[in-house]
Amino acid sequence: MNGDQRFFDFLRARIGLDVTSVGPAIIERAVRQRSTASQAQTSDEYWRTLQGSSDEQQALIEAVIVPETWFFRYPESFCALAKLASKRLADINNLRALRILSLPCSTGEEPYSIAMALLDAGLKPHQFKVDGMDVSPLSVEKARRALYGKNSFRGQDIAFRDRYFTAENDGFRLSSRVLEQVRLQVGNLLDPLLLTDEPPYDFVFCRNLLIYFDQPTQKQVFEVLKRLTHVDGVLFIGPAEGSLLGRAGMRSIGIAQSFAFSRQETAPPEPLPAFVATPKPMPLPVPQALRSPVSPPAPRRPFSTGAHIALADKPTRSDAALLLASIAALADEGKCAEARAECERYLRSHEPVAQVFYWLGLLSDVAGDVLQAQGFYRKALYLEPQHAEALMHLAALLQSQGDSVGARRLQDRAARSERAADSERKR
Ligand SMILES: C[S@@+](CC[C@H](N)C(=O)[O-])C[C@H]1O[C@@H](n2cnc3c(N)ncnc32)[C@H](O)[C@@H]1O
Repeated sequence: MNGDQRFFDFLRARIGLDVTSVGPAIIERAVRQRSTASQAQTSDEYWRTLQGSSDEQQALIEAVIVPETWFFRYPESFCALAKLASKRLADINNLRALRILSLPCSTGEEPYSIAMALLDAGLKPHQFKVDGMDVSPLSVEKARRALYGKNSFRGQDIAFRDRYFTAENDGFRLSSRVLEQVRLQVGNLLDPLLLTDEPPYDFVFCRNLLIYFDQPTQKQVFEVLKRLTHVDGVLFIGPAEGSLLGRAGMRSIGIAQSFAFSRQETAPPEPLPAFVATPKPMPLPVPQALRSPVSPPAPRRPFSTGAHIALADKPTRSDAALLLASIAALADEGKCAEARAECERYLRSHEPVAQVFYWLGLLSDVAGDVLQAQGFYRKALYLEPQHAEALMHLAALLQSQGDSVGARRLQDRAARSERAADSERKR
């Protein structure tokens, strides 16, 4: 069933999923999983089942989507929203409620974060309404249930949990005053009739979806997003998607790390600098592995044997672990400059490890220095050729620069590495 183009085409047509962006392995795994579940003996038999059943079509879509999300992901964007919302209310003389869209909303963390941020900013419940929409009915159902596990609360500042949630069994239930601000529904961004009967939104969040589309689909979706965003409105996207919006004739509103764009009538010179280095603290998307107590990964293939490392006191293994944990904490708090300084300190006093170069890549990436980010990701991969995050981030960078072939090569490598790790775990 490997590489069966029919399934790739089906998913592209239905949800815009581009096999080059995600890599074939993810789609093949979903097809295998669904094929087994529907007891098809061959690829053709599963294809026929798929054609004849809208339930099976939905099940394949559910098997392939990436619902990864958490509360207050990219916190700076919610601070920006709070400021912009108050200003927008004044601009419209408080004559109506602000309209905000979160699409895709996945399991609800994003639209609920929007509501919490606005309530925290002092907006009254009647002053705004949030619509959340996602192609996955299962995710929307989970969002409606509004019962969340620990994984939805990441980063260090989770004080909002005490304000808006109550502990229930192993999870946390969202309070009704937040729930009441959000209307959830199933919807597909590729649907030509999507929200055509709705007035445009003052703020639209469309984050971490565009990266899965091919260029023609991105173009088509940009038009939809423009239609959905009020002429004086603001569109929030994901950090890896900035360069795409520049090409669509939208410009960054200039609030660092908010990944927020507004319309502009004349196209900017290309490429638009997506983001500027932030003078303010900005939490980074910290890889899960580094949020728990850290031990330094053993260098598999260092640049050198360490002859260049100047050591005043011989560093111990726990020094390295502490330093890595401190880098993770600083980045998590958004202290980019300090995190970078700690990375450099690490490299001066310890053998180079892939994780530190990966962090430097991420810090450069967030600061908008794409070339430097690429260099660091490549160094990480030199040391640890299967470093999954470095592979995926470098692939996303190449993809955003139009190098689909390079991106795909890296995604294939990431998938191979994942398979190898899987079978290692099973042994
Ligand atoms: C990675 S999540 C992003 C969630 C949230 N915006 C965030 O950034 O945390 C991607 C979501 O996109 C949804 N999705 C995929 N294709 C879609 C489409 N064509 N229309 C609407 N939602 C889609 C998936 O179901 C998934 O929940």
